[in-house]
Amino acid sequence: MKTQVLIIGGGPSGLLLSQLLYTRGIDSVVLERKTKDYVLGRIRAGVLERGLLDLMREAGVSERMEKEGYLHDGTLISYDDEIFRVDFSEHTGHAVMVYGQTEVTRDLYEAREKANGKIEFNVENVVIHDADSDAPYVTYDVAGEARRVDCDFIAGCDGFHGVSRQAIPLDVRKEYEKIYPFGWLGILSETPPVNHELIYANSSRGFALCSMRNENLSRYYIQCSLSDSPEDWTDDAFWEELKRRIPADQAEKLVTGPSIEKSIAPLRSFVTEPMRWGRLFLCGDAAHIVPPTGAKGLNTAASDVHYLYNGLRDYYENNSSEGIDTYSQKALARVWKAERFSWWFSSLMHRFPDQTDFDYKIQLAELEFLRENKAAQQAMAENYVGLPY
Ligand code: FAD
Ligand code: DHB
Repeated sequence: MKTQVLIIGGGPSGLLLSQLLYTRGIDSVVLERKTKDYVLGRIRAGVLERGLLDLMREAGVSERMEKEGYLHDGTLISYDDEIFRVDFSEHTGHAVMVYGQTEVTRDLYEAREKANGKIEFNVENVVIHDADSDAPYVTYDVAGEARRVDCDFIAGCDGFHGVSRQAIPLDVRKEYEKIYPFGWLGILSETPPVNHELIYANSSRGFALCSMRNENLSRYYIQCSLSDSPEDWTDDAFWEELKRRIPADQAEKLVTGPSIEKSIAPLRSFVTEPMRWGRLFLCGDAAHIVPPTGAKGLNTAASDVHYLYNGLRDYYENNSSEGIDTYSQKALARVWKAERFSWWFSSLMHRFPDQTDFDYKIQLAELEFLRENKAAQQAMAENYVGLPY
């Protein structure tokens, strides 16, 4: 088989890139290790930046999102008995949208299927060949049968555990990493959200986040120990702990119910450089991970897709390689700003096991400064709604 762009990974990055290329008549093939149902069953991000909304519109897949998504023009932050709001619209003129990653992925799969886009599921043993030549190709197995795709370019959209990053030689690749000493225990429940806006809570018992998917679907997270497993937490224990970490008036009106999903995610900051090697381009979680505080993971994947899509367009439409030649540099400049924001917001909101009284007082002072200071709120709002591409 032959294609212009071979995309490894059928998560949000790979699908969005494939759909955007399709709108410009650029052919692609997507290889996905899992089944479609498996990919759609993963509960992950829930807050979309304006840049991703625009990409969904450009890809022609925004109809359901515009109807069913919820625009949020601010968020609440609590600590001790204090609670304050950061107004995104006032400070930036923009909002974010609550629309789940599962819905984004579902819309993209539907569009790719409608356009007869080529997606191979259940692929195994994906190997990248000759990425540093003018004739790269990828081999893989499906149901025990060996296959090969020749292509102009390879987009590595295969997430943190994929093969693409590993294909870049170690003497070219540099990785930067920070592991946080806690995780997030998240649940999804068919209950109305406790509040119409998100609440990020710093409490003496650890971080909590009240989020949502729709009027009757809530997403809540609490900071937990890395040694915990979801089975250690009954639903009742989760709800009790959440109530202790959010302001009393919110805890009183919290509607609880059975969880329909419960999982633990570790927190990590990670960046690999460069994001391009020859004709291989890394996109999204394949190249970087942020701790989830501030919802930058999916959104930063989307900004990579923006730069790569435009670079490839320039190559095919204008015979210019400038966009792809500057891809790594442009993508990384924005990635590091998202890394900084996610690290800052995580550091501000969590209890660290080795935190001293001094560290705690500094955290409180920073929260108070954010509550009182419009410039600090503006800096937060600009990062939260998404820095311009
Ligand atoms: P992925 O979504 O990881 O997609 C990669 C795809 O490649 C997968 O479908 C995988 O099956 C496939 N693949 C892997 N290896 C191969 C291979 N060898 N061959 C073929 N296919 C392969 N972000 C937020 O903003 N907010 C959140 O609350 C949040 N929660 C998260 C919770 C968890 C548990 C995780 C892991 C991530 C979370 N994120 C969150 C981050 C966000 O979901 C990711 O940034 C986003 O999914 C990145 O999309 P992607 O397409 O780059 O990677
Ligand atoms: C969600 C996750 C986040 O990490 C975040 O900062 C906001 C919302 C969510 O899953 O809804």
